[in-house]
Amino acid sequence: MTKEKLIEQINVLKKNKNAIILAHYYQESDIQDIADFVGDSLALAQWAAKTTADIIVLCGVHFMGETAKILSPDKRVFIPDMKAGCSLAESCPADEFGAFVHAHPDHTVISYVNTTAAVKALTDIVVTSTNAKVIVESLPEDEKIIFGPDKNLGDYINKLTGRDMLLWDGVCHVHEQFSLERILELKKEYPSALLLAHPECPGYLLQIADHVGSTSSILKFATQSDNRQFIVATEAGILHQMQRENPDKEFIPAPPEDSTCACNECFYMKMNTLEKLYLCLKNERPEIFVDEETRIKAVKPIERMLELSSKHGL
Ligand code: 13P
Ligand code: SF4
Repeated sequence: MTKEKLIEQINVLKKNKNAIILAHYYQESDIQDIADFVGDSLALAQWAAKTTADIIVLCGVHFMGETAKILSPDKRVFIPDMKAGCSLAESCPADEFGAFVHAHPDHTVISYVNTTAAVKALTDIVVTSTNAKVIVESLPEDEKIIFGPDKNLGDYINKLTGRDMLLWDGVCHVHEQFSLERILELKKEYPSALLLAHPECPGYLLQIADHVGSTSSILKFATQSDNRQFIVATEAGILHQMQRENPDKEFIPAPPEDSTCACNECFYMKMNTLEKLYLCLKNERPEIFVDEETRIKAVKPIERMLELSSKHGL
């Protein structure tokens, strides 16, 4: 089927089935363009919680679909490719994380949204990179905290807040591989370019960044800035919205260590394609399910995150 036909069919199926398409900024451009809403992890969860659609097609990775299902158990939630996982979620198996939590019974457990439902079920408060700082700061200064699974984000929040959270040793395979040396070379080549970095990047990169933030924060910063050139250290899919909202600005993807690979793309995110999105809506699969016992435990820390976020205007 041609791309035009796929787009036409997706729109027909979406209308007939009262479905909504939610897409993350890292999705391929065609998916972002056909989606009803494109956003960061927090915004996708907020949309999933409030939509009146019967079906949610979550164009993102598995934990995002799972979060939507946990928040909206009466809706059917589909993901174009069930294998679209996340290296951070995989770096934190629930049994190992559970043992870590049990070894520190006096600690409050904060988990990044990039985790499985089983890990969220062991958690007190879920955070995303948009709200992690305000949520940590909302807790008493002497509160003992476990933060997992992203050690780079945890380390960054520790530095920002002066806390000493115990960190799980997980990383994202995309954000870990940006080359400091090649970024410094780029900065020489484009002396007026500002470096924008996602907090999943290692600390040595965040230290030299002009702005550190979630995908939505990076996009907002670039749009509001008077600067014309930006080096972008996060998954390259975000460049689509950056360029769309700022056609006269220049966005340069930060280069990976290995110049021969497209390692600044998340291969999990890119497993979803327009064709798989069409098939998913047509055949109503693959579908995301969460067992009710896990869901009941996992929904509490997610709802706590949503409450704290709205309290802080996020
Ligand atoms: P955001 O919440 O900033 O969109 O990040 C999600 C993610 O997976 C980053 O790798
Ligand atoms: Fe997970 Fe990294 Fe992909 Fe984000 S970019 S979904 S953290 S693997």
